[in-house]
Amino acid sequence: DWTMAAYREQAIAAIRAQVGDGRVICALSGGVDSSVAAVLIHEAIGERLTCIFVDHGLMRKGEGEQVVSMYREHYNIPLVHVQAQEMFLSALEGEADPEKKRKTIGRLFIEVFEDEAKKLADAGKPADFLAQGTLYPDVIESVSFTGGPSVTIKSHHNVGGLPERMKMKLVEPLRELFKDEVRALGRELGLPDHFIERHPFPGPGLAIRCPGAVTRDKLDILREADAIYLDEIRKAGLYNAIWQAFAVLLPVQTVGVMGDGRTYEYVCALRAVTSVDGMTADFYHYDMEFLGRAATRIINEVRGINRVVYDVTSKPPGTIEWE
Ligand code: XMP
Repeated sequence: DWTMAAYREQAIAAIRAQVGDGRVICALSGGVDSSVAAVLIHEAIGERLTCIFVDHGLMRKGEGEQVVSMYREHYNIPLVHVQAQEMFLSALEGEADPEKKRKTIGRLFIEVFEDEAKKLADAGKPADFLAQGTLYPDVIESVSFTGGPSVTIKSHHNVGGLPERMKMKLVEPLRELFKDEVRALGRELGLPDHFIERHPFPGPGLAIRCPGAVTRDKLDILREADAIYLDEIRKAGLYNAIWQAFAVLLPVQTVGVMGDGRTYEYVCALRAVTSVDGMTADFYHYDMEFLGRAATRIINEVRGINRVVYDVTSKPPGTIEWE
């Protein structure tokens, strides 16, 4: 008989068996996956887990602070907050290729972990394992794509293993689960509903929602637009009906008019999809009133955007993220 309660016990036993007396460091992204993994591992081995939250400067508005306060204050899980914004943004400077962006972010992530692992070791707490909230779709999709011969669609920054030199094994307690199962497990572990129901957020963050080269300015513009869009979605009571919704800042400027003046600013694309597991998805059918309202607010409130479009592409042939 397969239930989440049983899965939880089994997963905890498996973590204990794998880790033994060892120590684990866990990559926290603020998303549901890494959180469920962290809480599960914390249940299994307690204080021998240290969470590391790498702030890569590619988070959404207010997200970094929320993550830190939630883990420290609410869950009481030991957390190291790494301020790595400079490092990531300068490494990404001028890089427009989606795969190179993903790989740069993935590589830096591992480097930061290596550094933090060294610091912990120096402090007498050497980590033997690295925990990750890798899901089943991440595992299979980074290897091949259904219907195609071993083509990498996207290099997910949370899979692909670690460099030999790290000498740390991976603990991936969610590797067999789909997203809906991770949510069920999170509920089983007592995580609050509003948190469990959060939309997925990709490891590379806003970098892959800023097609082309990422700049600080573009990220700031995107953060504002995204926050307004999500605010409108929540106000309309649509958040839980949607699998994932976000704004994308296109590297295209268009001509507009505001008051007596000409504007020449960026285009913001809005994306919303329904899905069961992220493997396939349909674009969300908003009513036009909603889209008009969100677009008007974004254009009026965000300097740097003068046009908003809605993405009506499903997956396949599109992917959910734009890069
Ligand atoms: P795509 O864009 O491939 O996305 O249709 C499917 C789901 O995966 C998320 N995604 C990622 N998640 N690391 C992650 O943790 C990544 O590199 C990554 N790339 C995409 C995406 O947000 C969607 O939920």
